[in-house]
Amino acid sequence: MTTVDLRSDTVTRPTDAMRRAMSQAVVGDDVFGDDPTVQELENEVAGLLGAEAALFVPSGTMANQIAMGLAARPGTEVLLDEGAHILNYEGGAPAALWGITLLTATGDRGMLRPEHVTDAIRPPNVHFTPLVAVAVENTHNRAGGSVWPADRLKAVCATARDAGLHVHLDGARLWNASAATGVSLEELASGADTVSVCFSKGLGAPVGGALASTRERIDQARFLRKRLGGGMRQVGILAAGALHGLRQHRERLPEDHRRATRLGETLARFPGVEVLPVETNIVIADTAGCGLGQEEIVASLAAEGILVVGFGPTRFRMVTHLDVDDEGIDRASQALDRVFGGRS
Ligand SMILES: Cc1ncc(COP(=O)(O)O)c(C=O)c1O
Repeated sequence: MTTVDLRSDTVTRPTDAMRRAMSQAVVGDDVFGDDPTVQELENEVAGLLGAEAALFVPSGTMANQIAMGLAARPGTEVLLDEGAHILNYEGGAPAALWGITLLTATGDRGMLRPEHVTDAIRPPNVHFTPLVAVAVENTHNRAGGSVWPADRLKAVCATARDAGLHVHLDGARLWNASAATGVSLEELASGADTVSVCFSKGLGAPVGGALASTRERIDQARFLRKRLGGGMRQVGILAAGALHGLRQHRERLPEDHRRATRLGETLARFPGVEVLPVETNIVIADTAGCGLGQEEIVASLAAEGILVVGFGPTRFRMVTHLDVDDEGIDRASQALDRVFGGRS
């Protein structure tokens, strides 16, 4: 039985064309600044995001953490939504690596409001941790791939910047946000001081992310990347995969969104299952009311060849991507029907 792997959009395997592009990449030692394919990728990403420069890094986590290292010094505070990836899924890195305190706010489906920023700003006082940055996430993973309306993103970024705060945008799935809204990547990135993106999610590359910002900050980021052990040598092989994904797989993202919508509609029909609004390629279902435990759901679907992940005590997540076609969605829908159908 072939499996339909909906655990994450990171599970894709490079296509034949991507592998060919990788095998033919012109490479050099990137720590010496000699890898032309890496430079091509960095220039292309910077151009797309309207930034002066970008830096190729091994992962989205490293991109986010370098941004944290640029934005804050030990003993300062960064404001973010309580569901943020930086807080929930990066191994405590802000504290462990940089001595940063995270201040959380409860956003609306992962999205802060300008008041969250103004409320977090406190007058200088010997008791208070200085707030130095705000981090936002678009699309927001834990909130179910929610997409910030461009105006709201601008308003939050502007409020933070007017107060002298650094704004970091975790744009691991900014490609999806742009595809879903039709708003350009450059516009979505325009309010932020640093922007991270990933190539190994919707774009289907095996490895990599990037951080974009001013040239001065990216020079500092290069230093922090080396300090973290992220300086890589003939890494044009990986950059070529990322470039291929960027050029060939961005336009097809609406297909993933359409398939996720289908899955969401299927799930929403079952009594006791609450589906978070599906806006991009992530579907999160809360099954607290359906009488099945989360582990049981994950195991029952796995037995049908459908892989999903538990996402908190009563939730599970499914993510569509390059390696799931309409037939896979049919199979997943039938399996969901067998697991949830007829329950009340
Ligand atoms: C919103 C968001 N940011 C950052 C990351 C980190 O990416 P990586 O797994 O490449 O470190 C992820 C990964 O899923 C993510 O969903």
